[in-house]
Amino acid sequence: MGADVTAWWRDAVIYEVYVRSFADGDGDGVGDLIGVRDRLPYLKSLGVDAIWLTPFYPSPMADFGYDVADYRDVDPLFGTLGDFKALVDDAHGLGIRVIVDIVPNHTSDRHPWFQEGLRDRYIFRDEPNDWESIFGGSAWTQTEDGQWYLHLFAPEQPDLNWDNPAVREEFEQILRFWLDLGVDGFRVDVAHGMVKPADLPDIGHPDQVRMVGSQKVPYFDNDAVHDIHRSWRRILDSYPGERIGVAEAWAPSPERLALYIRPDELHQAFNFHYLFAPWDAAELRRAIDESLATSGSVGAPTTWVLSNHDVKRHVTRYGSLARARAAAVLTLALPGSAYLYQGEELGLPEVLDLPAEVCQDPQRLRDPDSGRDGCRVPLPWTRDLGWRNPWLPIPSDWSDLSVEAETGDPASTLELYRTALHARRELQGDLVWRESPAGTLLFSRGDHVCAVNLTGEPVDFAIDGELVIASDTPGAPDSAAWWKVK
Ligand code: BGC
Repeated sequence: MGADVTAWWRDAVIYEVYVRSFADGDGDGVGDLIGVRDRLPYLKSLGVDAIWLTPFYPSPMADFGYDVADYRDVDPLFGTLGDFKALVDDAHGLGIRVIVDIVPNHTSDRHPWFQEGLRDRYIFRDEPNDWESIFGGSAWTQTEDGQWYLHLFAPEQPDLNWDNPAVREEFEQILRFWLDLGVDGFRVDVAHGMVKPADLPDIGHPDQVRMVGSQKVPYFDNDAVHDIHRSWRRILDSYPGERIGVAEAWAPSPERLALYIRPDELHQAFNFHYLFAPWDAAELRRAIDESLATSGSVGAPTTWVLSNHDVKRHVTRYGSLARARAAAVLTLALPGSAYLYQGEELGLPEVLDLPAEVCQDPQRLRDPDSGRDGCRVPLPWTRDLGWRNPWLPIPSDWSDLSVEAETGDPASTLELYRTALHARRELQGDLVWRESPAGTLLFSRGDHVCAVNLTGEPVDFAIDGELVIASDTPGAPDSAAWWKVK
């Protein structure tokens, strides 16, 4: 990228490409890197600054690529290293940065280390403890010779032993491999998970997954994980062009989360607190204030995220497209960086009625309702949906939500996002709350004002200014708008 880099990531809009479901370049029903490359002009015209590609590495796909068998190649399902390089070059040519996923907590059980029986690189014990897998059931699987290995996710995802210097060294080399190929950063999967306490203490009760994100569990968020992030930061900083690390970290409090984005660690962390805030003015305001304060306390920008490949799409979480559109207009007005998940710009809902026989997500083991297939349905590109035999069926009524149907329609969600992403560049300055009726949010940033009505009644915000964007008639129930004021 050009030399004029000025902390580009501090207010960047980064679009998550779930490669498998984005665009199919070779017609086999599974999205791929050629598909992504073909659609770069779409992403450019949408106005994103960067894309984050979910794992495309060789994998048996027990967890759709988050079980990596080879960290330095591309799975044939998704293309080749040459396709990857061409994608990066084209993206950079359009001024779009490329972030790739790195999965350091665990490998695939097909990874050569596990296959070759290099047990000191994993966590083997004679007896299991009581830890549970995030996907349900025990976090331990017994091997033929009677020993057990730890897997905080699926049995096909053995956890690595980060106390072994060979593991640390290998990942540093992997980072360099992709940095040398020109990537602009990494989304660090389970960035809170790598280091486990040596004595692997029992937790003492079941249903542990409910504790993650609000309480301390011994397998996550151990202090020594920060040494790894510091060493990675030194590598990122040794490359030109401000390469970044973004933590997917589940910490028990916002203060613990802020530790991942101290100046010598990663650049950003996903803001799941905001993602999980309900459609309620007071709750959203609290999440916004708390996020700004805690990331500000370490000098890092906040990130804002409404959806991703692991959670129910926010149209469905909030209960209506009107709310989802208003949430997007609010989110894109906030200071900091925003992460979009493919398809939210079309207003796609969660697919709740996928037939059981097509659902493949291992998390359904925990309970069928927690399955993540419904947010991973392929994107509808054209009125005829644009896929031959997609790996998950696309609802036929998504024809009207397709890129083709929405493009150029000023009332569409796609055009709302496009307007917001371009207009957002004018928003400068800190957020200052202004007084507003109960159930609403009103704030200014420089010469812009944003108003959100979360009540079921119309509200007159009486703003004297030029309307820049509105998710609906300004002041309508479940709407948001920005104005430029004198
Ligand atoms: C990814 C999930 C994945 C898990 C295990 C997550 O946080 O986002 O999709 O299943 O890590 O790698």
